[in-house]
Amino acid sequence: MRLISLIGFMGSGKTQTARYLGRVLGRRVISTDQEIERQEGRSIAIIFQEEGEAYFRKREEEMIQRLVGLSGIVLDCGGGVVLKARNVVLLKQAGPVVYLETSPEWIHRRTRHKRHRPLLNGPNPQEVIADLLAARETLYQQADYTVNTDNKTVETVGREILRILDKTPQRSRGTKS
Ligand code: S3P
Repeated sequence: MRLISLIGFMGSGKTQTARYLGRVLGRRVISTDQEIERQEGRSIAIIFQEEGEAYFRKREEEMIQRLVGLSGIVLDCGGGVVLKARNVVLLKQAGPVVYLETSPEWIHRRTRHKRHRPLLNGPNPQEVIADLLAARETLYQQADYTVNTDNKTVETVGREILRILDKTPQRSRGTKS
């Protein structure tokens, strides 16, 4: 079973969608952010504050290198994994990479009340979202598949991905209906 990776900007719904896919497909879900936090024993916000972004990106790169060795998982990637070209190469070698494409408006809507993302905690998150998204868009488009998430529920996005990947839910596999 190949690894399924979800990439996309903060607030695109990667974490919730990965959990949905994990549930339906009976696969383990791993989040690069959570793994880094566990390994470091501190939150992403604190890592950024104490060590800076470059340090975090190195941890993230090492994490990708480790996790692509696991088959049969759904990988919820931090929004910045695409910043290192090698990460994208490794993820694509390991299995299908799906980009959850989201407009700046919907990203802002979904992230404005959350405080755990250091890059969006400044005085003008809308400007940061627009700038970062513009800078990253072509990087995200290296994915094998793109699914737009604007105004959609997790289930709708998840089902679209299952259709694209041609997966039938494991629960109904092999049973007669
Ligand atoms: C980041 C996205 C975050 C997290 C960190 C940096 C980014 O993950 O890795 O705050 O640069 O886009 P989510 O996309 O899961 O919020």
